[in-house]
Amino acid sequence: MRTLGTVAEAVEFRRNCSSPVVLVPTMGALHAGHAALIDAARIRAGKNGTVVVSIFVNPTQFGAKEDLADYPRTPEADLKICAERGTDAVFVPTAEEMYPPGDATSIEETALSRGLCGAQRPGHFRGVCTVVAKLFNIVRPDAAIFGEKDFQQLAVVRRMARDLFFGIEVAGHPTVREADGLAMSSRNRYLSTDERARAAQFPAALTCAAKETNPAVIISKATDLITRGTGSSPEYVAVVDAETLEPLQALDRPAVLAAAVKIGQTRLIDNVRIAPSHGKI
Ligand code: PAJ
Repeated sequence: MRTLGTVAEAVEFRRNCSSPVVLVPTMGALHAGHAALIDAARIRAGKNGTVVVSIFVNPTQFGAKEDLADYPRTPEADLKICAERGTDAVFVPTAEEMYPPGDATSIEETALSRGLCGAQRPGHFRGVCTVVAKLFNIVRPDAAIFGEKDFQQLAVVRRMARDLFFGIEVAGHPTVREADGLAMSSRNRYLSTDERARAAQFPAALTCAAKETNPAVIISKATDLITRGTGSSPEYVAVVDAETLEPLQALDRPAVLAAAVKIGQTRLIDNVRIAPSHGKI
């Protein structure tokens, strides 16, 4: 389906005879991480509910020097994955449909978007919030599923949905990883063989550093291990409150160790949870 009218009509028809409607927003180039989200959406929707997957490479969330033009696009394979997972509707709008001429409205979450990736990618979360709000209004799902790999995105979208009274449950799904620990990502296909081998050291560094009991030690150890393991110094490494995303001085509440690193031209992000009791022992 390529138009707002068709997807809205199809979902409305399904809503009347069944519920709930669960949305999985994606930018395509689908992999096993996306597939896991679609499966989780099906479980949530039940066999009579409706699972909608959107595939849209959203231009407004890419910076001027980022990879919008090169972003991987695999439409046939994407539709096959959606069909195999029993998706009820796949929404593949055009940029003109999502951003018609004269479009002049955007949505900005101003607290959780500021640090971490938001500090490195100005305007990125404004683009994400704007497109997700549009998708929410077009599909009007009961719930939407987002991956914890992009844990800042999940927190920002959750806050936006709460603040704007969307009445949509924003659910998280654990990160799906390759056998060697690398978080699955559409951008992994940019990595050369050598870069791919170095990329595996990124999650390994986070997992190892997260065993420490003090945020400052965790950050310096993670920075060191990432730099030595991947051959690149990280863009950021932070230990933050899992809810507010504020930097933590002590592990006295649920925390997340999050980092970004550029290996060659490919920017990777990842995060691991740190249990609250961990720092007290
Ligand atoms: P995209 O990168 O295609 O990711 C779509 C969804 O899949 C996101 O919720 C993301 O967190 C999740 N995901 C990606 N890799 C994952 C993995 N390894 N394990 C679990 N979940 C994973 O994120 C976006 O697109 C866009 O910003 C979007 C929300 C669609 C707005 O344009």
